[in-house]
Order: sequence, then C-alpha cells, then structure tokens
Amino acid sequence: MKKTAVLVGCGAMAQGWLKAIFETPQLRNRLKIVALVDLSEEVATQLSEQFELSDVLISTDLDQVLKQTKPDFVLDVVVPVARFEVVRCALKHGCHVISEKPMANNMTQAHQLVELAADACVSHSIIQNRRFITGIRKIQQYLTSGVLGEISAIHCDFFLGPHFGGFREEMEHVLLHDMAIHTFDAARFISGKQPLAVYCQETNPAGSWFKHGASANAIFEFSDNCTFTYRGSWCAQGANTSWESNWRIMGSKGTLIWDGFDQLEAHLINDDQGFIHSSITVNVSGDVVEDETLGHASVLINILNALAQGDSPETQSLDNIHSLEMVFAAIKSAETGQRVLINEESQ
Ligand SMILES: NC(=O)c1ccc[n+]([C@@H]2O[C@H](COP(=O)([O-])OP(=O)(O)OC[C@H]3O[C@@H](n4cnc5c(N)ncnc54)[C@H](O)[C@@H]3O)[C@@H](O)[C@H]2O)c1
Repeated sequence: MKKTAVLVGCGAMAQGWLKAIFETPQLRNRLKIVALVDLSEEVATQLSEQFELSDVLISTDLDQVLKQTKPDFVLDVVVPVARFEVVRCALKHGCHVISEKPMANNMTQAHQLVELAADACVSHSIIQNRRFITGIRKIQQYLTSGVLGEISAIHCDFFLGPHFGGFREEMEHVLLHDMAIHTFDAARFISGKQPLAVYCQETNPAGSWFKHGASANAIFEFSDNCTFTYRGSWCAQGANTSWESNWRIMGSKGTLIWDGFDQLEAHLINDDQGFIHSSITVNVSGDVVEDETLGHASVLINILNALAQGDSPETQSLDNIHSLEMVFAAIKSAETGQRVLINEESQ
C-alpha cells in the first residue's frame, strides 16, 4: 500500500521533489501526495495544476491539514527560516518527516528537532541529495578500498555565479548556510572522518548580488590528521566549477582528482626512485548501485527502504546534524575570527 504524504512549501524545489516522485518507478508506486500546503494558496494550486494533482487538498494551514489527512509523511520544502515550526508541527502529529537541507536554522533548533523526533518515535531525515550521485559514491568506495592509502587532505573548490532571486539574496551567511553543507557533508561521507575544528574567513565580495556572505574559505581539521579545505563563492563570474565542486584528495599512495563532472581519476605512485616519484593515472571505477545515484530520488528511496526494513536512513537527522555542525562552526569562526572546535561529544 502507498504511504501518504503532505508536501509543505510549494516553491521551486518542490517541483524537483514531485518530479523525482512521479518520474522514478521506485517511488511512484510507494508515495501518494494527499495535500499541498503553502503560505500562498495560489502557489500551491499552481503546483497541483502543473503536476495534474486534481484530488489533493490545497491549504495554507498545515496543522489543520494534518488533523484532517493523518499522513504517514510530511515532506518539508519550505525556506530555511520556516523549517523549525513546520517540522515541529509535523512531529507533533506523529508524522515521519523528510526535510530539505539545511535541517535547521541554528544548532539549538537542530538538537530540539532531533529530540522531538525521538520522543515521537518517528523518522526525521534530510534531503542531502549531493551525496547520492555517481562521482561521490565512486570516490567513497575507492577511498574505503584503501588504494589511495591514508587520506591526509581533501581540497574542494566551488565557484559559481547563480542569480536565484528570492530568499537567498537576503540571507545571512548565504554560501555557508544554504550551499556549503552539500560539500561539507560529502567530505564527511567519502572520508568517514570526524570534523574536529575549523577556521573560516567569509566575505561578500565587490559586485556581489547577495546581501551577505557569498564567499567563504574554510580549513577544517578532521580526525586522523586529515585536513579538509573549502574555497567557495556564489558570485564567481566566469570559469565556473561544477555544483559538486572540484576535488583533490591526497593519500599516502597517490592523489585523486575529480572535476565534479566526468573526469574522475587517481594518480598512483608506481616508482619510489628519483626526485619526483612517477605515478600512473587510473580511472576510478566502482560498483555503484544505480538507485544511489539519482539525487533527490535516491534520498527518498533510501528513506523508504530503510523504514520498510526497520533500519535508519543514511541521512537521518542524527547523522546529518554533524554536517550542520560543520556549517555553524564555520559561521562562528567567520564571525569571531577564531578557530572553532566542533562538538566532539555529539559525534
Ligand atoms: N537539495 C537541493 O539541492 C536544494 C536546491 C534548492 C533548494 N533547496 C532547499 O529547498 C528549500 C526551499 O527552497 P526553494 O528554492 O524551493 O524556495 P522557494 O522560495 O522557491 O519556495 C519556498 C516555498 O515555501 C513557502 N513557505 C515559506 N514558509 C512557509 C510556511 N511556514 N508554511 C508553508 N509554506 C511556506 C513559500 O511560500 C514558498 O512557496 C530550502 O531549504 C532550500 O535550501 C535544496
């Protein structure tokens, strides 16, 4: 039987969620949207028309809709500042929650939501879709296999210039809070290491069309003497990187390079003689499961499968909160100009 879901927040990203649900056979037959909720009834109605959802309830009142429909899931695609109240309301009604990233607007709210979900005995997971793509899955497998040796450094460059309009252009710390979490989360995932501390410098460069924090440079200390650096900008005009970032990963046996698109190769040391030791270039291939490479659809599949089997979803809030800790520690460092320790007790 299909699980029922109420989708809250019917803006740009909600279209991505509905496309993922209706265009993915592994989801289409498992989830039924019963209501669309938005601050604007008109926006919710437009979304229902776009996806020909003629039998769904349209409303601006989430609490009332949840009373009426008693869904299995609430799909939360609202703007970050509205997330806490929406998720709190869903958990109060005993619904499983799947939220867009970032999971909360600050760490206090994030911890409260984790506790509320545990008290309600329901699942609370986050759409961290950029770890569910082929490149990241292959890299994770490759590093886990040990071919690259001990990982000592991960370097990421992210340079794009998107003109979104909307909430992002008014947001504080926009790059760190709304985007960098994808790369931070992916670095945690591929390395399997714990973030311990960070120093971050943040600017809003000349010519920026964002109100605050469109660029950031962060140096994270990971466990096992591993360094993760992030250089990013959302107002970089020209010579753009991919949305996944450009990656250089250094191991004791070589270096892995990923351009964030199709170029993914390892340069492995094959000679221990001479001034600069020579290396061979090999493709990084892996036995990647297709269901884990579909972005949003994969996160949803992972959550539904986990719940059906009584397991924990990969992006459950209990895990995702550690990626969020990286974001807020970087923000605190940028604000104070100090190196900031990342809470080891909660890991
Ligand atoms: N995972 C990704 O790759 C990705 C990409 C883009 C956006 N996002 C995330 O998706 C979320 C939404 O972003 P968007 O681009 O769709 O924003 P948007 O502004 O286009 O849409 C948000 C919608 O939420 C509605 N809303 C706001 N407060 C609400 C409330 N209290 N109750 C009901 N509806 C409410 C707004 O009216 C609006 O229609 C954000 O958290 C953003 O970071 C994620």
